[in-house]
Amino acid sequence: MSSLPSVTAGATDGAAAQLAGLLDSAMDAIITADEEQRIVLYNRAAEKIFGWTAFEMIGQPLSRLIPAHFHKVHDVHVARFDATGVTSRRMGINSVVHGVRASGEEFPVDASISQLQTPEGKLYTIIMRDVTERVRAQQELAAFAAAASALREQEKTRIARELHDELAQSLTALKMDAIWLRDRLQGEPAAAAKLDVMLAMLDGSVAATRRIAADLRPLLLDDLGLVPAIEWLVQNFTQRYGVPCELEINEDLELGEPYATAVFRIVQESLVNVAKHAAATRVRVNVALEGGEVTLTVQDNGQGFSPDGPRKSASLGLAGIRERVQLVNGQFIVNSRPGNGTGVEVRIPLAVDLPVAVDVPVAGPSR
Ligand SMILES: Nc1ncnc2c1ncn2[C@@H]1O[C@H](COP(=O)(O)OP(=O)(O)OP(=O)(O)O)[C@@H](O)[C@H]1O
Ligand SMILES: [Mg+2]
Repeated sequence: MSSLPSVTAGATDGAAAQLAGLLDSAMDAIITADEEQRIVLYNRAAEKIFGWTAFEMIGQPLSRLIPAHFHKVHDVHVARFDATGVTSRRMGINSVVHGVRASGEEFPVDASISQLQTPEGKLYTIIMRDVTERVRAQQELAAFAAAASALREQEKTRIARELHDELAQSLTALKMDAIWLRDRLQGEPAAAAKLDVMLAMLDGSVAATRRIAADLRPLLLDDLGLVPAIEWLVQNFTQRYGVPCELEINEDLELGEPYATAVFRIVQESLVNVAKHAAATRVRVNVALEGGEVTLTVQDNGQGFSPDGPRKSASLGLAGIRERVQLVNGQFIVNSRPGNGTGVEVRIPLAVDLPVAVDVPVAGPSR
């Protein structure tokens, strides 16, 4: 490579050749730019990834490899990196970095940058990996997870409705008939007593069917919306576990799908965790919509735990919440310490482009 001597100034020819061989056998693009951001080193992988030859790129501004609309951001980042004096770091910690190929195609890269002060001035070396395939696979996986999650909710809705509308109704009709029969069997106490037992069982079955249906997915959520569904969840929690639960939610809050289901399921799983693990005496649920963002907190005053501790392999609740939050581009934090209660905090931005449509075809993939 013609540029190498400028980079390895002072090195013997043998060392320079060795370095050139090393750089050219690397799988990642390795590009060095000088203080003026002109390319002085450009390895073989860079040729392959960007589609420009070293001959074409040496002496060219680094910006030719960066999409035009990222030039300003790139300059700011380099200036900031300069100021920190850190010798090397990953680029784009909170965002994806992009490159542009000779064909004009933009593509995502994983990149790290390092700076080195030499007698000839500062040199920046950027190591880049084309992650187009990985990003595509991640997007596909996210789309699949979102579709699978939506499909599961549809399936739960269908079963809940059938249990509620078909089974519970039939059982109620049976009960009416049993009452009718019992009233006509006054002269036969043994038969009437049998019918009393049947009636008690029918009552139990109706109640169980309604409970199972509601646990699958409360019809309230689809019929009346998120607020009544969360109110039901909180009341049900207090009734079942005898722990007072305070709810703070704006009565007018209305969320479309997939947000309503996400918020409902997160509160549901958090309350199940409180019941199972916290030994709390008070719980507070807070759901608010502010500045285009839903914030949700479930805070208990129980025994707490170490969220950074080893995860039990059979524990899927918090992992499920994390996945759900990711599907809607939100953030999720568990605030907990042994002896200090637990707070689950979630922020979900609304009106963002989600990776998939919410309405999935019924014949789509299922989990
Ligand atoms: N509110 C809480 N109070 C105390 N500990 C908690 C609380 N929430 C979670 N934990 C701890 O975190 C662990 C992981 O919770 P997670 O919901 O992921 O799994 P799980 O409840 O054990 O099982 P699963 O939810 O899959 O039925 C729990 O086992 C428990 O030790
Ligand atoms: Mg759990």
